[in-house]
Amino acid sequence: MLSRRLLFFGGKGGVGKTTLASATALTLADRRLRTLLVSTDPAHSTSDILRADLGPEPIPVVADCWAMELDPEREADRYIADVKDRIAESVAPRLVAEVERQIDIARASPGATEAALFERFTRVLEQEGREFDRVVFDTAPTGQTLQLLSLPEQMSAWVTGLIGRRRKLTAAGRMWRNVAGAAAGEAASDDDPVLQALEERRARFLRARGVLVDAEQTAFVFVVLPERLPIWETARAAQALDKHGIPVAGILVNQVLPDDLSGDFADRRKAREAKYLGKIQQDLGEWPLWRVPMREEDPVGTDSLRELGYSIWDAYGMLPNKTHEVSIDVKTGG
Ligand SMILES: Nc1ncnc2c1ncn2[C@@H]1O[C@H](COP(=O)(O)OP(=O)(O)OP(=O)(O)O)[C@@H](O)[C@H]1O
Ligand SMILES: [Mg+2]
Repeated sequence: MLSRRLLFFGGKGGVGKTTLASATALTLADRRLRTLLVSTDPAHSTSDILRADLGPEPIPVVADCWAMELDPEREADRYIADVKDRIAESVAPRLVAEVERQIDIARASPGATEAALFERFTRVLEQEGREFDRVVFDTAPTGQTLQLLSLPEQMSAWVTGLIGRRRKLTAAGRMWRNVAGAAAGEAASDDDPVLQALEERRARFLRARGVLVDAEQTAFVFVVLPERLPIWETARAAQALDKHGIPVAGILVNQVLPDDLSGDFADRRKAREAKYLGKIQQDLGEWPLWRVPMREEDPVGTDSLRELGYSIWDAYGMLPNKTHEVSIDVKTGG
């Protein structure tokens, strides 16, 4: 799993995604792999636990580890501003106000933030991410994550529809100009900036999808707790990813009570936990299960996070070898 270039951490709220994504990123960096940690959590929890002031561009955290934090709403605003700029260049001036009104309506519609975030995500894959041996994504809770990852298909279908409509429009325009005997110098469809932007975006989404479904490059890891919270929801989410062809590499079972606890209270807690561990085995046993012991203290700060990551992956013999690493190219996959 840790030999893949792109690692995603998903799971329900508060299960330890940020902790384990950060711990894993720091451990990979400690193995001399240039690692980028990407968070999309608007609550800035990655900044908090790394004790760094992260923003939309990668900044160095420790040797070989960089991190960035994307704010979904800010990404959406930026995206809308960019679309408006492009429209202003290609739409007749008298239409600009109406088109901008339409765009503002689109900004407020459900899914707009996820779409903008996905747009940014595809750029992280092809720009910032290319500079690194590993990119670790601390993704938002399950529902949104799924939506994000199934978006390439939806977006590609949507953009294909738009391209078709735009083609018809330009074809009709050309026909009309022929009939009307208009002067030469009108843009042919190949020079149409709107069409070009749409086609560029569709191609980028398809490339992102190609990367996401490639089990040589990508691993999705779910985090669960051995607690009452519905384990089947995680099973359903993992199955949904499988269905989309996105490789689920395994399940981190976080906050398992340590072995060396003793006393009646500990025994009762452990008995209860054993029930949930059994349920996890039953519902999620088709994937590798990796246990993470509960720590006495919240793991915060780069030292204790790195130490946590090291202990997890070392226990399963999964730490990458320091000297025999090759990095995989996003575009060629080779
Ligand atoms: N193995 C562990 N031992 C002790 N505490 C832990 C462990 N893993 C996580 N925690 C603590 O549990 C809390 C939740 O962890 P974290 O913030 O990583 O979860 P999350 O899934 O990212 O949450 P959110 O869905 O809000 O983003 C934090 O206080 C964290 O320090
Ligand atoms: Mg988090």
